[in-house]
Amino acid sequence: MGKIKKISSILIENGKVVTENGISTNDIFCRNGKIEFIGDSLRIKDRILSTTEIIDAKHKYVIPGGIDPHVHFDLHIGNNMKSSDSFETGSKAAIYGGTTTIIDFVTPQRGESLLKSLKDRKKEAKKSLCNYRLHMSITEWNDKTESEMKDCVYNEGIRSFKVYMAYKDSIGLDVTDIFKVMKVAEALDSIVMVHCEDGDRIDELKKGFENNGKKEIKYHHLSRPPETEADAVKKIVELSKKTNSKTYIVHNSTKYGMDIVKAYGKNGRIFVETCPHYLLLDKSLYENKNFDEAANYVMSPPLRSKEHQDALWEGIKTNIIDVIATDHCPFNKKDRLAFKKDGFSKIPNGVGGIENRLSLLYTYGVLTKKINIEKFVKLISTNPAKIFGLYPQKGVIKVGSDSDLVIWNPDKESMISDKTQEQRCDTNIFEGFSTRGKAEIVLVSDKMYEV
Ligand code: URP
Ligand code: ZN
Repeated sequence: MGKIKKISSILIENGKVVTENGISTNDIFCRNGKIEFIGDSLRIKDRILSTTEIIDAKHKYVIPGGIDPHVHFDLHIGNNMKSSDSFETGSKAAIYGGTTTIIDFVTPQRGESLLKSLKDRKKEAKKSLCNYRLHMSITEWNDKTESEMKDCVYNEGIRSFKVYMAYKDSIGLDVTDIFKVMKVAEALDSIVMVHCEDGDRIDELKKGFENNGKKEIKYHHLSRPPETEADAVKKIVELSKKTNSKTYIVHNSTKYGMDIVKAYGKNGRIFVETCPHYLLLDKSLYENKNFDEAANYVMSPPLRSKEHQDALWEGIKTNIIDVIATDHCPFNKKDRLAFKKDGFSKIPNGVGGIENRLSLLYTYGVLTKKINIEKFVKLISTNPAKIFGLYPQKGVIKVGSDSDLVIWNPDKESMISDKTQEQRCDTNIFEGFSTRGKAEIVLVSDKMYEV
């Protein structure tokens, strides 16, 4: 990371200012963390002060700072292991990649109070260098859950809850409990994020493979076939309809899941996320690499076939998909392989990508003409801001909005490598990918990062 400066005011001149609705060449003047003026030739209109930082953004885009609503920094997974990025290192990587706001999770242990867990998580989260918010995971339903959910919303500013249909032995819920969460969340005008994978069926398949001594990494994806995700999506859209709950399907990886959402209709209530790895990588990585290398791609849901990948791009085009997030949750090799002898099911789940999200989507989405730059902004910033209650403070370039801005150099070429990344991990699933387009200056409120 280059220079970091605290600035009281900044004038960004001649940039191509992008919002979800269009592009205009304009100057932007920001003071004390807010956008104060947008217009042409602001310099000659006496807007600036002697201390104003002046940035020439000619031939560059100015976009709202990226918002990644799905990251797992400092994720504790037991056995003294954590995801490799802390709030500090992960948020630095986020800024480096053009993301100015992240939303991570509080994940209470069963039996632990939501508010106690939130208090502990806030201590970790305050190390974040970029803006942050927290979603609250509901990992069991008990007689305190409803009142604690109310406390979270009324007293703690939480507006989103997460439930898991997988991981049934630790944090996953049955549909009867998800129904209860959705009813309460609806009454609280909050949104429920759902990890849609049929945990019971997956556990059966896993056991079947394990009992037959099948340990290779390919059994990770074979024990989580696309149908296990689609069946879960179907249950969730039905529950969403019954409860009228705003519902956000995290990391959708299949065509079938999207077909179900399309058939039921989104009705302004259902939102769908996918991640760069489902758009750009496929399941052959589990089949064609040796155990240690293939282990780097273990995430849930797993990578799918090319058919699903193509369908996801189509889902972006047809607005079934609303958000591209990362589910950033990398692990170092040592932790990934700590229980290697026990086979595929003991590899920690999760991969990184926060630093690469914007460059990858710009290179493989905008430059290939699958999406235009307005849609790019919508997927990585405006939609997450609207869905998670941050708009119009964030997610848009508008007078009065926060000065979370990215000066985007469309010509800067790079090659992704774990040797040069800011992300704290000794691998990168996009190793060797070329990108064109990169964040050059990132404003997080009144801090300016030259990246
Ligand atoms: O494999 C994944 N996705 N790991 C992170 C935790 C989760 O399930 O979102
Ligand atoms: Zn996740």
